[in-house]
Amino acid sequence: MTNKRNRNSVFITYQGLRKLEQAIIQAQNNEKDAKLTVQELSNRAKVSPTTFTRIRKSSHPVDRDSVKLVFKSLRLELDEDDFYQPSQQVPCSWDRAPDTTEFVGRSEQLQQLKKLVLVEKYRLVILQGIGGIGKTHLATLVAEQIQTKFEVVVWRSLVQAPPVEEYLTSILQFMLGALREEIEIASSFDAKLSQLMECLKKHRCLLILDNIETILSSNGQTGLYRAGYEGYSQLIRCIGEVAHNSCVLMTSREKPREILLLEGERTKVKCLKIEGLNLREGYELFEHLPRKFKYANKEQELQELIEYYKGNPFVLKIVAAQTQELFAGKIASF
Ligand SMILES: Nc1ncnc2c1ncn2[C@@H]1O[C@H](COP(=O)(O)OP(=O)(O)OP(=O)(O)O)[C@@H](O)[C@H]1O
Ligand SMILES: [Mg+2]
Repeated sequence: MTNKRNRNSVFITYQGLRKLEQAIIQAQNNEKDAKLTVQELSNRAKVSPTTFTRIRKSSHPVDRDSVKLVFKSLRLELDEDDFYQPSQQVPCSWDRAPDTTEFVGRSEQLQQLKKLVLVEKYRLVILQGIGGIGKTHLATLVAEQIQTKFEVVVWRSLVQAPPVEEYLTSILQFMLGALREEIEIASSFDAKLSQLMECLKKHRCLLILDNIETILSSNGQTGLYRAGYEGYSQLIRCIGEVAHNSCVLMTSREKPREILLLEGERTKVKCLKIEGLNLREGYELFEHLPRKFKYANKEQELQELIEYYKGNPFVLKIVAAQTQELFAGKIASF
């Protein structure tokens, strides 16, 4: 996920993206019968669909001339505030963060998250929702889009349930090096936690802690910790309670109990419930599936499918694959 940069590469700003999305909605509203596809929009702009999608996501640098073409095709002026040139490389450790190039929709949630993190300076934001709803992809994409506003970005998964000390060491190893903090990683848990909090106070760091429900107990009592993992409770409390300059994004199927006490505008801690994709986003998901998964244009059937599975992208992708295999794309018989 390293960024390729050249002289003409730019990132679209939050403002530029908003302009673009509003113009696309406007263009779609003007279109009476047919829905404007990515293919059609990119044809109009004379850029490839891949470039068009990249521009809309702003997760990777894009060619400025292509951005101009896209803006022009939607009758938009490209202002200086609509893009910026990546001047410095932010050290990022993405670990096992997923590839987000097939990400669709969620523009409202992306905007809301950017506002919370960049404007309102929230210190801890939890994306909570059921399995497969898209928390990890959303957290990763937003982190990619705002990475240049931070001094360091660290993404770490909890899926393998690492002991908390090991987890802290892995974060500190990258962070201390990237921030040129010449200190040795402490050996005790308490001291490691203090080192992390010092970094979060002294620097503007973005930390993504993925799938924290893994370390919560699953014996029916929501929000409690698995035996041996209580140190995570302290970690979450510290991140939420201590005044610092950084932002920690977490994803979880459950709400950790600390959050119930910490959540608030003053404390800068927020839990966002992530629901399924809406109908428009669901269609877009199907539109982006590889050719072999494509259906004939049966909107009614797709609508039923999206509604039945409540817009869960993981389930929709599985169903699309199975339907294709079993019934050659015939949803009705499925
Ligand atoms: N906005 C999206 N556009 C396209 N595909 C998506 C989107 N969100 C999620 N997906 C797909 O759905 C699947 C599940 O997404 P993700 O792993 O982010 O879910 P999750 O909520 O983190 O699930 P879990 O609780 O199991 O960790 C992935 O295969 C991903 O490709
Ligand atoms: Mg996940």
